[in-house]
Amino acid sequence: MEKIVSRIVKCVKLPVTVKTRLGWDAEEIRIVEVAKMLEQVGVRGLTIHCRTRAQGHKGDPDFTWIPSVKAAVSIPVFVNGSIDTPEKILRTFEETGCDGVMIGRAAIDNPWIFNQAKHYLLHRELLPPPALEERLRVLTDHLQLSVECKGERKAVIEFRKHYSAYLRNLPFAAKVRLELMQFVEMAPVLDRINEYVVSLQSYEAAEAAV
Ligand SMILES: Cc1cc2nc3c(=O)[nH]c(=O)nc-3n(C[C@H](O)[C@H](O)[C@H](O)COP(=O)(O)O)c2cc1C
Repeated sequence: MEKIVSRIVKCVKLPVTVKTRLGWDAEEIRIVEVAKMLEQVGVRGLTIHCRTRAQGHKGDPDFTWIPSVKAAVSIPVFVNGSIDTPEKILRTFEETGCDGVMIGRAAIDNPWIFNQAKHYLLHRELLPPPALEERLRVLTDHLQLSVECKGERKAVIEFRKHYSAYLRNLPFAAKVRLELMQFVEMAPVLDRINEYVVSLQSYEAAEAAV
């Protein structure tokens, strides 16, 4: 690790940051030593996924190592691992003294987490979930940008993993999601979403009238 990172630091003009785990397994946690070494070779920031390599994504992350890392280095230290709510973000800052948090899977599950977290950190109150129109507008933007980046077929197929988050708790979500999963082109997805928005608006109007 030292050889790889020091070579990269020497080769590039940009600041180099590292993301790593606590260690190989429970018997080999050497993150404090590793953090010092990384700072020594010129790394400018460190993110730690607070599980070991052996854990994969299983078990709880152990944030209790972070204060020792913070005490050992002066580069910014970011904490990562199962941070998935605004409250957890605040707690992680308070309990670890970290300089930032990194959010992985929660961003796929809830694309609004960043705004929700920012609001919570500033005002200590939770924003309500985004309105239907906002959710489906962001779904559409996200899909269009993915198509621009990856090409239509690949983007539309990969996008299937996002429908459950965008449609969560909406009426008829399971049925609509099943239909969206069949498509490999963007136009039918957008048509189905537009149709869904219209049907939900009349459903909501009918509910309100009861
Ligand atoms: C689909 C997926 C892809 C990932 N790709 C990378 C990657 O390229 N580099 C990396 O350092 N970590 C990668 N990770 C790990 C995450 O960055 C993160 O460390 C891990 O998921 C724990 O954080 P989380 O609980 O917030 O997701 C990936 C995780 C997932 C689920």
